[in-house]
Amino acid sequence: VTLPDAPPRRALVTGASAGIGAALAEIFAREGYALVLVARRRERLDALKVKLQSLHNAEVSVISADLSDPGAPDAIAGSLAREDLPVDVLVNNAGYNQRGTVPDVPWPAKRKMLETMAVAPYALTHHLLPSMRAKGAGGVLNVASVVGLMPGGVGNTLYSGVKAMQVSFSEALHVDELKHGIHVTALCPGLTWSEFHDVDGSRESLARVPKFLWHTSESVAEAGYRALMRNNVVCVPGLFYKAAVVAGRILPRALSNRIAAKYSRGVR
Ligand SMILES: NC(=O)c1ccc[n+]([C@@H]2O[C@H](COP(=O)([O-])OP(=O)(O)OC[C@H]3O[C@@H](n4cnc5c(N)ncnc54)[C@H](OP(=O)(O)O)[C@@H]3O)[C@@H](O)[C@H]2O)c1
Repeated sequence: VTLPDAPPRRALVTGASAGIGAALAEIFAREGYALVLVARRRERLDALKVKLQSLHNAEVSVISADLSDPGAPDAIAGSLAREDLPVDVLVNNAGYNQRGTVPDVPWPAKRKMLETMAVAPYALTHHLLPSMRAKGAGGVLNVASVVGLMPGGVGNTLYSGVKAMQVSFSEALHVDELKHGIHVTALCPGLTWSEFHDVDGSRESLARVPKFLWHTSESVAEAGYRALMRNNVVCVPGLFYKAAVVAGRILPRALSNRIAAKYSRGVR
């Protein structure tokens, strides 16, 4: 089972304006893929487009879209069809957290999280799989999180739930698409340097977390790219997080819930 070798191959990366998504876009460009960059901040995407064109001679298209808008995935699929931009690899990466207990965050804001991280990845997969199947090759890389594989801890109800869904979705999609030559991987990073913790306001409370627990967006993206090429179903970058996932499976769930609650209490 291989991805198509001969150009033109094209990868669509959501959340390409920062962090892990920008790093993934750069890797796909380096590996000879054409790119479709999706996020809300057009000026960031335009700047990345110029960089990828000059560094890697990549063909790059930009779609500025807010994935929390329920119409966004259909509009993206429509514009790909109109512009004749077939996609070989879909990277569902866009995401963020809004910490707080259930009543702390207004429901419309939580609905937007669900649209961005649950509905949009599913809808884009729905729209883009048929042409991959027709080619008998392709890939879907879902950027989930290590919290999708363990208890979420305090103030993390929807985020950890959505990340668990992304893992579960990827695992089922992986088995469904094997016979169609489509690789499917859930990338499950731990703490990663990016804008994520500025967006969710937890940067300060995480300042005392030891440095060895932090990965760079680039190293996480490289691990995810390699895992997708090998068709590994779940990729957890870093030994510590791999061990934490194994420990979480061995320990009784009630105990790992208590540990997660203890260590997440100070994160705001
Ligand atoms: N950083 C971590 O510690 C960590 C750990 C595990 C998993 N992850 C996951 O990794 C993924 C990437 O996060 P990151 O760490 O790279 O964070 P980041 O630097 O904040 O990047 C998030 C990206 O998502 C995009 N995005 C957010 N909301 C969007 C929306 N409504 N519509 C379209 N695009 C949207 C942002 O673009 P615009 O703002 O321009 O729209 C940005 O490009 C997320 O799914 C996150 O859950 C991160």
